[in-house]
Amino acid sequence: MTTQASLGHLLKHSRTVITSLQEPNGAYPASPSFSAYKGYCWFRDGSFIADGVSAAGEVESASRFFDWCAMVIMRYQDRIGHIIEAAHAGNPLPDEQMLPTRFTFDGSMGQDDWWDFQLDGYGTWLWALGQHALRHKLNIDVWKPAAQLTVDYLLSSWDRPCFDWWEEHREQQHISTLGCIAAGLQAAIEAGLVEGLQAQAAVLTYGDIKQKIIQEGTADFHLCKWIGNDSLDGSLSALIAPLRVIDPACDLAKGTIAALEQQLSVDFGVHRFLGDTFYGGGRWPLLSCFLGLAHVSTGNAQKARQYLDWAASTATESLELPEQVGNPLLAPERRQEWRDRWGEVATPLLWSHAMLLRLAVELGINVKETSS
Ligand code: BGC
Repeated sequence: MTTQASLGHLLKHSRTVITSLQEPNGAYPASPSFSAYKGYCWFRDGSFIADGVSAAGEVESASRFFDWCAMVIMRYQDRIGHIIEAAHAGNPLPDEQMLPTRFTFDGSMGQDDWWDFQLDGYGTWLWALGQHALRHKLNIDVWKPAAQLTVDYLLSSWDRPCFDWWEEHREQQHISTLGCIAAGLQAAIEAGLVEGLQAQAAVLTYGDIKQKIIQEGTADFHLCKWIGNDSLDGSLSALIAPLRVIDPACDLAKGTIAALEQQLSVDFGVHRFLGDTFYGGGRWPLLSCFLGLAHVSTGNAQKARQYLDWAASTATESLELPEQVGNPLLAPERRQEWRDRWGEVATPLLWSHAMLLRLAVELGINVKETSS
């Protein structure tokens, strides 16, 4: 999958995979047939998917996803109100009563146990919505009530530990999660989703989060996985791009990219973190695309293209991108237990397709034709 023509086919197919699998109400399935994800839409995956297709020109698809987010948020308006009230009264509600990371397509919480309390997706949807509205000059009024409620939710609860992007370590404050929340607040301010006192509060909290990231979330000139831990995570490049919480021109961005390349990238395929055992801990095409985006933001398009080509090379014969690929695996002995539990690796993963599109757009590749 390295020739221009075959990349063009893959990009075109990526758009089709995403738009054809989108539910009529706007929900994006994380992966249509993978046992553990079937029937659910994640705020995290969905927001990055919407951002990818929005950048690729699928305006209506992205807008419909934001309609879905707004529908979900407004449906839980009372619950969010209780969360905010309790936090303000100094008695924050337990994790189990916070918002989950994923919902069924109809906006219910679903019956299956999950590592649910995650805050990042609520920042990411605001960020993706703000980008989408600014990119396509859209009227945002219809999304404002839900966006404002989400901002209040984040202002009340951003400082709580919760599960990370990989649905692990609920007891920690993850730098990627803080980055997504900061990006969401910033986008809400820039796009005019918040006004007046709420906007002022968002500005202050954005500053607090940024300060926390810089003062407590760095070590050896790079961003860290969580507060008080100096290891890395493949998700950290997202803070440089596309989220732009860390200025691509600063030393912290350069140090983070260098450290990620050194520790987590193998031939342009990026692992989530050292010690990953999920399906044996392979390399994730979507993380290669995030690192590629960080490279583009620092002016290194050539390197970014190598990450894009590696991600594209993971496509199956039917042009489907997986969640991860093996060979090398960090923990090969742990692969089989996940296959026994959930079946083969999630394929296609819509988030992988979206990140390929997003990086291709950033590299100036025509994602609308069959050849680039
Ligand atoms: C990943 C999450 C992702 C979910 C759905 C999980 O295995 O850890 O980051 O949101 O799959 O794709």
